[in-house]
Amino acid sequence: MKFEEFSVTEKAALLSGASEWTSRGNERAGIPSFAMSDGPNGVRCQLGVGDHLGIGVSKPATCFPTAGTVANSWDPALAEVLGKALGREAHDLGVNVLLGPGLNIKRNPLCGRNFEYYSEDPQVAGRMAAGLVKGIQSNGVAACPKHFAVNSQELRRQASNSVVDERTLRELYLTGFEIMVRQAHPWAIMTSYNQVNGTYSHENKHLLTEILRQEWGFDGAVISDWGGSNSALAAVKAGGTLEMPSPGYTSVRELVAAVKAGTLSEADIDARAGEVAKLAKRTHFAGVGRGDLLDDTVARQHHKVARYVAENTAVLLKNDVVSRARSSDGDVACSVLDFGGQVHATSPGNTAAVRSESVNKLCHIAETDSQPSASRVLPLKPGTRVAVIGDMAKTARYQGSGSAKVNATQEENLLDELKKIDGVEVAGYRQGYERHGGKNGVLIDGAITLAAADDTDVVLAVIGIDERSESEGLDRSTMALPECQNELVEALASTGKPVVIVLVAGSPVELPWLDSVAALLYIGLCGQAGASAAARVLTGRVNPSGHLAETWPLKYEDVPSCGWYPSPGRDSIYREGPFVGYRYYETAGVPVRFPFGYGLSYSSFTYSGLAGDENGIAFTVTNDSDVAGATVAQMYVRGPRGGAMRPDRELKGFKKVFLGAHETKTVTIPFDRYTFRHYDVVTGQWKTETGMREILVGDSVEHLPLSVTQMVQGDSDLCPPNPALGHYLKGQIKEVSDSEMTALFGHSVAASGEPTVFGENDPISSWADSRGFVARTIAKTLAKREVKIRQKTGQPDLSILFVLNMPPRAICKMARGLVDSAMVGAVVEIANGRTFRGLGSFIAGYFRNASANRRVAKALGKRGGQG
Ligand code: BGC
Repeated sequence: MKFEEFSVTEKAALLSGASEWTSRGNERAGIPSFAMSDGPNGVRCQLGVGDHLGIGVSKPATCFPTAGTVANSWDPALAEVLGKALGREAHDLGVNVLLGPGLNIKRNPLCGRNFEYYSEDPQVAGRMAAGLVKGIQSNGVAACPKHFAVNSQELRRQASNSVVDERTLRELYLTGFEIMVRQAHPWAIMTSYNQVNGTYSHENKHLLTEILRQEWGFDGAVISDWGGSNSALAAVKAGGTLEMPSPGYTSVRELVAAVKAGTLSEADIDARAGEVAKLAKRTHFAGVGRGDLLDDTVARQHHKVARYVAENTAVLLKNDVVSRARSSDGDVACSVLDFGGQVHATSPGNTAAVRSESVNKLCHIAETDSQPSASRVLPLKPGTRVAVIGDMAKTARYQGSGSAKVNATQEENLLDELKKIDGVEVAGYRQGYERHGGKNGVLIDGAITLAAADDTDVVLAVIGIDERSESEGLDRSTMALPECQNELVEALASTGKPVVIVLVAGSPVELPWLDSVAALLYIGLCGQAGASAAARVLTGRVNPSGHLAETWPLKYEDVPSCGWYPSPGRDSIYREGPFVGYRYYETAGVPVRFPFGYGLSYSSFTYSGLAGDENGIAFTVTNDSDVAGATVAQMYVRGPRGGAMRPDRELKGFKKVFLGAHETKTVTIPFDRYTFRHYDVVTGQWKTETGMREILVGDSVEHLPLSVTQMVQGDSDLCPPNPALGHYLKGQIKEVSDSEMTALFGHSVAASGEPTVFGENDPISSWADSRGFVARTIAKTLAKREVKIRQKTGQPDLSILFVLNMPPRAICKMARGLVDSAMVGAVVEIANGRTFRGLGSFIAGYFRNASANRRVAKALGKRGGQG
């Protein structure tokens, strides 16, 4: 059946969801409804009506490491392995569209959802996301990468305007999406809640039509974030396909009326309806039982995949040399001699069941292999007696909170996993700290006693951030670990025993005690099999090969956007421009705790012999050690001198290199469309300046032993920077003046003041300042209640946070047709203190809306009015 034969109502009905998780189909036209489900690191297929905040029960599924952790592998092939398993589970659970991956740029370490995002760099984010998308879609399930675009804070998440200059937008915030779209061709994409430069993402023609479809060739469906659409009419015109979750028939009526009034062309409706039909067709796999649970064999196999991925993501951040003396009765005594040097990465894993092509490339340290050098504290040597400390050793924390939260099929903990490993003896366990930060001297004393005991050789402390700190809907308030954990680590170090820290966190934390511990293994949020993976890394069964996909600053105050993040008002001004993460630290010369790209290994590697030509570079990497391992070779580009303003160096390519003991390999990294280009705001074009570039190669942004200069023949002369950019030219973004910002943005930028009259797009939290008693009380009571619940349960209350960050317009997008846009107007009256008038209109609106819904339902030939 052709679209011309559809009524406008039928076509418009396809453009909004039928329920929390399903699209509307059209039986007459053979367009099936499709099911959507979170998420990025495991399928969260909800039973029953469902919610989108990770609160309700979902079917058990494998919880894989989160994106921020997977990124530390720097291995897109690994992301593809993970994507294949994820897509398989979605398929088996009856999910047609999987809502992930998340690939927003990590602008500031405090963003509550950073654990769901890959990196501060678009090359890493884009290529890792492309791997995941390819893997998912190989199952006939659509990936739905998110959140397009410039979504960097959770505070006011549905009522925030990201104000960013066009060049930074293109080069930093969009390039990752571009790489992912061009490489992996996702069948869907999710728009972000926020506005970008004053226009909601879901109705942003510049983003959705000019860039996404016309420039990058995206041919799929654009799905709104849940409750993230604004005007249905503006969305359809701009290229926004599907409003989720369920505005009922409100949007249908608005679209039909607009076509009748001539303010919307039917061709636009046809285009969007065609996109829905195409997605339904692409993901319509047969033979799936919607009520099915995951098959046990698949679940067991995927637990191994989760472990394999986790093994390849652990980042060894410190590993000191210790002296070892064994007494005649076999005791091992260790003391710290010096700090670990710059030795580097590897990747093993021996999960035969999940071996793929990429896995086969990997090298293993089999249990029977000779143990790596005995001089460093890690790997733990056979016979070592380990005191295990820390609540998170016994009750693992392995994922974040919110819509990405998975109901795992299995759980592990490090204490039990270490006990299973031959050769390591667990001398005892102590809790050490209260998980949610309470002061408890007794717990610290207990831990010290065990650590100081004569038969303890090494102290292994598992510490990290708790569940309430890293979540959708909430930004972290500090980069510090809970004080009780910092005190514990200092106390353990004072025993003189070598202290090994295993750190659990989805984002960087401050490490004031780093100098006093012997080793630090960062395992991120490593999924349901993360504990066994960590045990295998700690004991040398696996050689760590992760490298950081984001910079770890010394302290929060060093973060470029620290002075203006998160924005409490409507406008969030990206004042720092392109100087995010290492782009700032390297340009402004600010020292960091661990640089971008950094990671140690039980092997050591030598880089040599760099040569370049117009197509790319080649160099040699040698594994100088007796154990197989992997390093992450990174290519940065500097210059051209005298050309457009740029950060000091930018990552333009990388390769994970797997090497057997003493093996040497030649590595090539080709140049591509992203290597030398910059976005010219005057012409609105990508340009490549003709001139010399410096190409730097090494294994972190600060360890680049190889360099070569390369003449690049571009399509433009040098574009000297505007001197009015002032401090930006040296990356000194904390000093920039208003006029320098004007030079960057091309117009003067000032945050709009807070409203005195509340509109449909002001979040409910802002009603705390309303002159209306009812509105004020609602906002204040909700805020107080959330804090209370968080203190009591240790978990953020996502429902309350969602409501507080939500503007009234979102109510009608989520109410399954019970509330229409006129009723939202009534809510706005209440917000502004006209309580009785508002209530009256709301009640009258309820009946008017119900009968309008019945009319649409009739026109669609259905029963009941809320579809
Ligand atoms: C989140 C999305 C998620 C959606 C559905 C929203 O609140 O921002 O990432 O996919 O809910 O759960």
